Amino acid sequence: MKKTLLLAFLVSICADISFAQNQITAITLVSKTDAPVINKNIYGHFAEHLGRSIYGGFFVGDTSKIPNTNGVRNDIVKALKELKIPNLRWPGGCFADTYHWKDGIGPKENRPTIVNQWWGGVTEDNSFGTHDFLNMCELLGAEPYLSGNVGSGTVQELSEWVQYANYKGKSPMSDLRKKNGRAEPWKVNFWGIGNEAWGCGGNMTADYYANEYRKYATFMPNDIVRIASGANSDNYNWTETLMKNIPANMLGGLALHHYSVIDWNKKGDGVDFTEDQYFATMKEALKMEELVTKHSAIMDKYDPNKKIDLVVDEWGGWYDVEKGTNPGFLYQQNTMRDAVLAGSTLNIFNNHADRVRMANLAQCVNVLQAVILTDKAKMITTPTYHVMKMYNVHQGATLLPVNFNSPRYTYKGEMLPAVSVSASKDQNRVVHISLVNIDSKNKNKIEIDVKGLGVKNFTGTILTSAKLQDYNSFEVPNKIVPAVFKNFENKSGKLEITVPPFSVVVLEGK
Ligand code: AHR
Repeated sequence: MKKTLLLAFLVSICADISFAQNQITAITLVSKTDAPVINKNIYGHFAEHLGRSIYGGFFVGDTSKIPNTNGVRNDIVKALKELKIPNLRWPGGCFADTYHWKDGIGPKENRPTIVNQWWGGVTEDNSFGTHDFLNMCELLGAEPYLSGNVGSGTVQELSEWVQYANYKGKSPMSDLRKKNGRAEPWKVNFWGIGNEAWGCGGNMTADYYANEYRKYATFMPNDIVRIASGANSDNYNWTETLMKNIPANMLGGLALHHYSVIDWNKKGDGVDFTEDQYFATMKEALKMEELVTKHSAIMDKYDPNKKIDLVVDEWGGWYDVEKGTNPGFLYQQNTMRDAVLAGSTLNIFNNHADRVRMANLAQCVNVLQAVILTDKAKMITTPTYHVMKMYNVHQGATLLPVNFNSPRYTYKGEMLPAVSVSASKDQNRVVHISLVNIDSKNKNKIEIDVKGLGVKNFTGTILTSAKLQDYNSFEVPNKIVPAVFKNFENKSGKLEITVPPFSVVVLEGK
């Protein structure tokens, strides 16, 4: 009996494998007149005062031998401009609810020091403050997203920060700004009112935070986007409570945080991982589809015209820190696992562009799923960087909704959708289709009907590598870089594509 069962199980596995390898998945792109535009801010980033994100990352100081502009590394600015970084969130994260912005303005030698209680207990000398950050955003061509302190700050402190950054006329705060060398306001549009209010931002209940939010928002102008600290992953009650209790005209955006973590007590190595761990990470990453769908459905109840943005302002893979590094600094390497994680997640955001209008990968430099890593004067870009660059063609383009049933990635009796897709048409009528195959072993054959899209000639780019665990190191910085992809054929308006295991592909049709 047991033998029969085993045999049946093995036959079903073999059937699954050959099914995955031979079947062709048909994908339809639906051209809809009311399709949403993919907000460029979905491709946003996050820079916290954490580990080597700011100090030793973005900011080396203007006396450094590393080429810099007002202390900010030129190589990082160049790389992020090439990425078309649309916005940058700062100064946290958990750090934001301990940050008093007035500590970071005026002559650097007079700035007080504080202890960074969340991240390694290191001394923060406040040498990188409001002017440094906002001027850096101008250099990057990125919109700043400031995260205000609710946990240990005051209403007055946050409302004065808004005036300091944005007020054009004469006021005590604009006078102070001018005294510190900046005549014109920066006009910061995005303002977070606290961060993770359910946790490091003050351990508040949803009801309590909703009241706090209302109070803070009252003393901030209406012409900026005020963003509420949102739910932790699947805490739908948090979203419901905030949507119910905060008047819609006070709420520009509602945040959501979700990290792809296998187990908070045993996250696993960033590079040296097993297929069990890979599968578990991808399962957590793909949960984003359900999270975004369910949080959006709650928002729809209170905001049927979808005026309020869903802002996924922290997402990404989180593993154990690299051996030998400070546990409080969250430094990890970045492999092909991170590349497919990023590609799949961005496909989800694109496909939910009607509600998801901003997202911020955690984090930009030297922290968690970074796009850039530095080691003294050296700087490298990670596989995640390349995915974000390949995908930047979707920024500001109109979504082409996709319809299909994904083939399966089967592992030890569990299944995940292997392929994810998103597509868009830009203002020059150029079509882009991004495809990810997360299957660790099997390629997948896809057929996309592109008739009726008004494009004929396709080219492709692929990111993949020999092993899932491969990464770019300071010694071999270009091990994983995008390459020309030719494994497709246009058969009278039907694109037949073979997507290799663990790869990210972007097709361009003109
Ligand atoms: O990104 C690291 C931390 O993760 C952030 O500071 C916090 O908001 C989240 O818990």
